[in-house]
This record gives sequence, C-alpha cells and structure tokens, in this order.
Amino acid sequence: MRLSRYFLPVLKENPSEAQIVSHRLMLRAGMIKQQAAGIYSWLPLGLKVLNRIQQIVHEEQQRAGHIPVLMPTMQSADLWRESGRYDDYGQEMLRIRDRHDREMLFGPTNEEMITDIFRAHVNSYKDLPLTLYQIQWKFRDEVRPRFGVMRGREFLMKDGYNFDLTREAALHAYNRHLVSYLRTYERMGLQAIPMRADSGPIGGENTHEFLVLADTGESEVFYDSQITDLTFGDRQIDYDDAAACRAVLEEFTSRYARTDETHDEAVFAEIPEDRRRSARGIEVGQIFYFGTKYSEPMGATVVGPDGARVPVHMGSHGIGVSRLLGAIIEASHDDKGIIWPEGVTPFHVGLVNLKQGDASTDNACEALERELTARGLDVLYDDRDERAGAKFATMDLIGLPWRITVGPRGLANNVVELTSRRSGGSVEMSPADAVARLVEIYAPVFAASYGG
Ligand SMILES: Nc1ncnc2c1ncn2[C@@H]1O[C@H](COP(=O)(O)OP(=O)(O)OP(=O)(O)O)[C@@H](O)[C@H]1O
Ligand SMILES: [Mg+2]
Repeated sequence: MRLSRYFLPVLKENPSEAQIVSHRLMLRAGMIKQQAAGIYSWLPLGLKVLNRIQQIVHEEQQRAGHIPVLMPTMQSADLWRESGRYDDYGQEMLRIRDRHDREMLFGPTNEEMITDIFRAHVNSYKDLPLTLYQIQWKFRDEVRPRFGVMRGREFLMKDGYNFDLTREAALHAYNRHLVSYLRTYERMGLQAIPMRADSGPIGGENTHEFLVLADTGESEVFYDSQITDLTFGDRQIDYDDAAACRAVLEEFTSRYARTDETHDEAVFAEIPEDRRRSARGIEVGQIFYFGTKYSEPMGATVVGPDGARVPVHMGSHGIGVSRLLGAIIEASHDDKGIIWPEGVTPFHVGLVNLKQGDASTDNACEALERELTARGLDVLYDDRDERAGAKFATMDLIGLPWRITVGPRGLANNVVELTSRRSGGSVEMSPADAVARLVEIYAPVFAASYGG
C-alpha cells in the first residue's frame, strides 16, 4: 500500500475527549471515528487490526474444534421472555419496536438465540459435544461508555456456546476454552491472566475472567506475583484430551488471582507478603459454565443413551474483540505512539523513502515493496513528498514494529536501514538482507496460524 493513496487521517493535536492513552492513540493514528457516544466507525488502519484480531480468534476457535456461525444482531423479545431475562436485563438492553409494533432488541449476548437454534436441530446425545461460536456486533447501552473502544455501546464480541450431555463433558468444554484463550491472547502479544470472577447476569457457578494488567483497567484485581511467570508458549495440546486440558487449567488457576468481586482477604493473606499484588486490569474475555440454566426453561434437550430426554449442559465464552485493540495499545506503546506486536500489526513493515522523486531511491523502494509483498509481507510505503522527520513521526505514531529506511547515501553502498519500533535500534544491511531478516522475524507469526 502506498501512503499517498491510502486513507490515514492522522491527527496532529491530542484529542481532548480522550482520557486514556489507547483512546488518544487510536484517534491520533486515524483508526476510529466516534459517531455517537460509545459508537465508532472503523477507519482503514483500525479495521486492519480488527481483522487481524478476528482472524486469530477464528483460527484458535477452530483449532479447538469449535464451529463458526453467524446470528443476527436483532432479536425478538419473545425469545428472551422464555429464559426470563427480558425483564431482568434492565436498561443495558436496547429495546426497539418494529413497524408491526413487535418488540425487538439489539442483542447484548446470544444465549437464548443459540439455545433456540440448538433445540430446533439437535435431538440426540450422538450429536454432542457441540460448540458453536460467532464474532458479531453487540449492543449494550452502558451507563458510562468511555475510553473509546474499551467500553463502547456497540462492540464486537466473539461469543461461543458449548452443548454437552453431562456436567463433566461441559467442564471439559470450559477447560478447552480456557486453553484456547491462553493461546489466542499470547498470539496477540498479550498476557491475559485467568482470574476467578463473578457470573453476573449470565449466571452460573464456574467462571473466569481474563485480565490484562494495566493501570487504566476498570477492574481491581488481586494476585500472587508467581502467576505472571506463566506462559503457554508453543506447546501442542490435544483439545480432545480432557486430562491435558484440565492440567492446563490447574496450572494457570491454582495460584491466587481474583477480581474484586470474589476477592477474599483471608485466603489472600496466606500468600507470602512479597508475592501479594493488587493492581488494575482490563477484562478481555470471560468463560462460564452454567449447566442447564437456559436449556431447562427453553426445552433444549437430547435423547440420552438410555432413551430418556435430558436438558443439555451449557456454557458461554466471550472475547472482547474490539476492546482488545485498546488493551493491546495500553500494554504496548511509548510517548511517540503505538507499538504493535508482530501478531496483530496492521502492516508488517513500513517503508520510508528519504528522497521521493529521486530515480534510484524510488526504484529501490519499489523493488523492496515488490520483494516483501512476494514474501507475503504487508508493506506500507510512505511515498509522500514529505520531510524525513514527518515520515518517521507517522510511522512511530501508527506503530508498525519494523521500518526500512531508504536514502541515496546508503544506496550508494547498497545499504538500507532496518529499524525496530520497540527498541529504536537500527541496523544497516543490503536490501536483500533486510527482506530475509523480515521473513525470519515473521516466520513464527505465520507458523502460528491455523489453516491459513
Ligand atoms: N461495553 C463493552 N465494550 C467493549 N467490550 C466489551 C464491553 N462489554 C463487554 N465487553 C467484552 O466482551 C467480553 C465478554 O462479555 P461479558 O458479558 O463477559 O462482559 P462483561 O463482564 O459485562 O464486561 P464488563 O464487566 O467490562 O462490563 C468481555 O470480557 C469484554 O472483553
Ligand atoms: Mg465479563
């Protein structure tokens, strides 16, 4: 992509409405535009990151054996009356009447609708286990939408629902989700810690929230510092192996880590004092096991092996897809701008031409753009007729993790400069070596992908 032809409306001034750094940087980098309180348009750069995040979520869900569907955003109130949640949900639910005066709503979550799909099509225990998920827009009329996409009213969520014959099988689904979430967040360059949480209006007995530690987080959390040493890494796990999934859950949840709703001072006090931490965190996901809470009232049953009909055991599992952009930026930025982790960066590399219009630098840049693109790398080529300082400032602001700088002086010696956004360090090398180095840097990112 040539920057001269792209749509990247960066802001020079700090937008006064933004209270936290991620919101400020998303606005300044031209990623989003607010349309109403808590409702945003996604501009090209923001959309690119949103798509990368969705791709990772899809891949990790499908790796775990979960099946994608897409449900509508609009739902009928009748469905919610069946579960009894239509009145319970309160003012966060956006209620709408259609032209026939039928009561509709913009879905804040989809337990009822997925249960309706299930009961219409699944009859036998032989069709279980089954986990369906979607990535779809949700609307919650939050009292205080704020912090940009972190607490929006319209936001993108991955919501998944498991259906199992027994409580034991549903707990395996719960553990499987926990494992897949650990992988998902790590691929995005994030540490998200599973913490014991409260189930709120979804209901249920088992639930963990995934929290990214950040001073600007809205949740108060308490944990044993040892938990931050754990990483999932690139271990291979068989998602059908219940014992293996349970072992991961035990490893990641045996140390104290709770949100304020479930925090217990007496238990916390048992941890050695130098390991006790209290901090702020951003909730980027939550998993629930809630048994037959929806299947029973809504008649989602299957015929079991003994011929008797039983309500299925269910859970639901959410990832805050659009919130993740804010969380990643909160965790990864400096005073110049965003620093995207390689796994989610909108472009893999920025290409800066120091002397636009000079035939040899233009040619060298175009050759590099072709070479990098041929290797599957997404390039943003700054071909504008701008000063070097302005080009660097834009690249730093939008946070591409790698930059190649091409100027006439270097080219005379067949060298360009490869710069790391994170460390700021630059190395001179031939254009061919720069391409080879970038291919090497991104190899693990491509290798982590599942099914392309
Ligand atoms: N208003 C929102 N804006 C952006 N993302 C959200 C919002 N509400 C929830 N999410 C994301 O969707 C995920 C799954 O939804 P869930 O029902 O667990 O939310 P929640 O617990 O009500 O969130 P919160 O406590 O932050 O209001 C959350 O973990 C969060 O990452
Ligand atoms: Mg939650």
